[in-house]
Amino acid sequence: MYECLFLGNHTIALKEVTSTNVFAAELIKNQHALITDGTVVFAENQTNGKGQRGSVWLSQPNENLTFSVVLKPSLLVDEQFLLSKMVALGIFDFLTNRGIKNVAIKWPNDIYVNNKKIAGMLLENILRNSKIEYCIAGIGLNVNQVDFPKDLSHAISLQQITNQPYDLASLLKEVLFFIEKRYMQLKSGKLTVLNQDYLKQMLGYQKENSFIIHQQKVSGKIVGVDKSGRLQVAINQHIQSFDLKTIQFCLEE
Ligand code: BTN
Repeated sequence: MYECLFLGNHTIALKEVTSTNVFAAELIKNQHALITDGTVVFAENQTNGKGQRGSVWLSQPNENLTFSVVLKPSLLVDEQFLLSKMVALGIFDFLTNRGIKNVAIKWPNDIYVNNKKIAGMLLENILRNSKIEYCIAGIGLNVNQVDFPKDLSHAISLQQITNQPYDLASLLKEVLFFIEKRYMQLKSGKLTVLNQDYLKQMLGYQKENSFIIHQQKVSGKIVGVDKSGRLQVAINQHIQSFDLKTIQFCLEE
């Protein structure tokens, strides 16, 4: 039912790997002739999964989706945040299409359900001159895991939301289908749709939120995201832009 045109046509399925992103980067380096746009590297288990900002992505073997999609997007370096928007919206669409409620994109590209994280992504770009030659879009989606370590108490899985287990192989096809739809929007230049939909689904957009900026709790309203992906926040009527290193979003409990 969820047949892609090209995403996942070349899929490398691995029982175990350190990280699908690292594996994909090595493939690009050593066997780039094999890598077509939309190649997927999927692993049943990652022994050293990478998260954002140098963190580790922990996922129980065989319970969740951990995969990387290699893209050849024809974008300039300064357009790279469009890739984050596109993948985040693809996962958002996949979840809402399944009838999941309260799905939101937490800037820059985490996916939340009921204020808990169900998916994260790590996009790593390989640049040539001022262009993105490859984007390795690594995605971790919590599916059947029902026990999370204490320090991951903000995590949630599909099974926890719907009380049913899922078949990982068919779910992967389904997620890829929705990512491909958004990727085609990007490829065909439908940037207004992508930009508007991203803002529409963003957690806390146009609302007063608390943030930690330089170790201080600050109140502000998210008013947008600039081209390079920085969060634009109105603080005391002044709009300031922040990157991921300088601002932390405090979620309501
Ligand atoms: C985050 O939210 O911190 C990003 C998590 C990204 C995890 C995925 S799992 C598949 C791919 N391979 C990795 O090593 N990381 C990404």
